Amino acid sequence: MASTFDRVRFASRLTTRRLGRTLMVRAEVGSTNDEAWDALAVDAPDGTIVVADAQTRGRGRAGRAWHTAPGRALALSVLLHQGCDRGSLGLLPLAAGLAVAQALETLGAAPMIKWPNDVLLGGRKVAGVLCESRRIQPAPGYPTSPPGREGAPAGARDAAVVGVGVNVAQDAGDFPPEIAETATSLALAGIATDRESVAAAFLDALEPLWTGLQEGGRAELLAAWSARADFWGRVVTVRTPAGVVCGVARSLDPDGALVLVLEDGTETVVLAGDLEAAPEEARP
Ligand code: BTN
Repeated sequence: MASTFDRVRFASRLTTRRLGRTLMVRAEVGSTNDEAWDALAVDAPDGTIVVADAQTRGRGRAGRAWHTAPGRALALSVLLHQGCDRGSLGLLPLAAGLAVAQALETLGAAPMIKWPNDVLLGGRKVAGVLCESRRIQPAPGYPTSPPGREGAPAGARDAAVVGVGVNVAQDAGDFPPEIAETATSLALAGIATDRESVAAAFLDALEPLWTGLQEGGRAELLAAWSARADFWGRVVTVRTPAGVVCGVARSLDPDGALVLVLEDGTETVVLAGDLEAAPEEARP
């Protein structure tokens, strides 16, 4: 079965130098993130993207499933394997969420970001991001560590896959019941566009953010991200792997973790979790 993703339309919108310049289009896959990792195994270029009309095992954050309405949602993964230093990789999930938000702005929407990288329209989720990273071991026979890097695995390097799911053209009835009350699409928000335009706008936004990060521009990224979040100063609940934390959202720390002020006035830093805004009367 051929994919309905229009390569020509996509190429006519894309202005990047690297990201998306190698494009793999599929009608149906398990997960585009898995396809991107498979592409790395056969030496696909940095910036290769995989787009699929449908996913049978789409993954969300925290082990959740991600539903892709066939042909109506964008399921896209970007493979990054050049210059993936650990510092930059730590902020890549925020950069990807910001890139989605900036892309939707260029298409006429007014999105907000919910930490760490859900993108919302009118308080409902329109897009999600799943970033995965791996340490890649060198092929047998690769030269030993260069001078000054003794002890580092010879030739080992980091790579990442940025997976984004954007609800583009779904009607209300296209969402599974469990997310019907919390999800939206660009079409439902009155933005008439297509997957190709969203994909190109996302990559156009991600490329300078990623390059900026690699060049040390962490503060700029955090500022741009923070400007698109509306929960600062509000009481939030964060479900973390270690339990639920409740406090007033204060800021991002330099690594992109969420700083909360607890009821006793102390600060805590949350590294990972799902954020929910609490009702106003629940302020500590
Ligand atoms: C989330 O909000 O939980 C993240 C959702 C990420 C979904 C995208 S769709 C393309 C890529 N392939 C996957 O299996 N997941 C990501």
